[in-house]
Amino acid sequence: MNFEEAQNKLAKYGQEHVLKYFNELNREQKENLLAQIDGTDFSVISKITDNIKKNPHGIISPIKAMTLKEIEAYKEEFTKTGLEAIRAGKAGAVLLAGGMGTRLGSDNPKGMYDIGITKPVYIFQRIIRNLLDIVDMSGTWIHLFIMTSDKNHETTTAFFKEQKYFTYNPGYIHFFKQDMAPASTYEGKVYMEDKDRIATSPNGNGGWYSSMQNSGITDFIHKAGIEWLNVFAVDNVLQRIADPCFLGAVISKNCAAGAKVVCKADPDEKVGVMCLEDGHPSIVEYYDQTEQLRNTKDENGMPAYNFGVILNYLFHERELEEICDNELPLHIVEKKIPYMDETGKFVNPAKPNGYKFETLILDMIHLLDTCLPFEVERNKEFAPIKNKTGIDSIESARKLLQENNIEL
Ligand code: UTP
Repeated sequence: MNFEEAQNKLAKYGQEHVLKYFNELNREQKENLLAQIDGTDFSVISKITDNIKKNPHGIISPIKAMTLKEIEAYKEEFTKTGLEAIRAGKAGAVLLAGGMGTRLGSDNPKGMYDIGITKPVYIFQRIIRNLLDIVDMSGTWIHLFIMTSDKNHETTTAFFKEQKYFTYNPGYIHFFKQDMAPASTYEGKVYMEDKDRIATSPNGNGGWYSSMQNSGITDFIHKAGIEWLNVFAVDNVLQRIADPCFLGAVISKNCAAGAKVVCKADPDEKVGVMCLEDGHPSIVEYYDQTEQLRNTKDENGMPAYNFGVILNYLFHERELEEICDNELPLHIVEKKIPYMDETGKFVNPAKPNGYKFETLILDMIHLLDTCLPFEVERNKEFAPIKNKTGIDSIESARKLLQENNIEL
């Protein structure tokens, strides 16, 4: 993109200030800025006003989950089906590691956090160990796609290399970068990080599939014959990955997707719950759960919306291709955005000063016709690390790991 094209693009979205310092930049900086302008989708900013109105929910009703009891009854059959698919190379895993992990407060990527007590035990190491269990069980290497972002790609890839991929076969690990979205003021002007850089952040965990497409990973997936993708968050150190029983259940029930769920610990637990929305599978995020939704009971007097998602999903890849042209709802989130002020000084704000723009993986579920909620035991499969202490923290995860006989 040349200067004039950049000017035109920026004028279309009212962002001309991005070129304010262009004449002061050296040749390389100029090229970088023009490339960033070219690659940035400024249209998201025009959605600020739409979002204030907020998407209303459709008609919400309970969804039937496959419970622990039912899974136990068919465990062997499901596991056999899942293992057959894995041995045929039809399953891949996608690790979402593009987040900023701001709540944990470490400068490094979240997966590099050492949760060990007597020896180093990195979050990434636990994830790889969990996947190796299935590699050992199936006797097959499983392709693992790791999503990083502009902010953590180099550090993450260097760390894996330094740790010798935690004994995983490096030929089966593929890194790809998540697309970035601009961050703006409340009035919709993009922030500048520097004279030659627009302030950007990863475009939310819903960006994984389009980022896979943009980086050519989906072409690889098609060539390799991978049909199922198990997508999961970096921070649940107990989760089972490429779980053959889960895969077998989703295949047997002929579903387009599956979501691992746990019974909510209490009605106020901050997890999204599965439901049907206008007859389609859907997830109501914790901040959208009304009193009425929380208090609704099923025919047995149990909470009707009690299955919380743990960010471990299975998707049939072909189904994703079909929905990928549908736009995911944009979540506009107030955040602290470091920026350069009008005098050219770098500012690290103490309180939120603008918006970031994200899409969420949970919104993909609603675009599909079917999704199987698959219950797992929370004490065996759910140890999220969001904070340093308290709920969903390093402390609580360590306790759960030890309960599961994992040496720390
Ligand atoms: P969270 O929503 O918990 O965000 O991510 P986070 O960035 O890890 O942590 P905070 O909120 O800043 O403290 C859930 C999962 O989605 C991934 C994260 O890496 C984590 O695995 N994620 C999130 C991405 O891959 N990209 C994103 O843009 C956001």
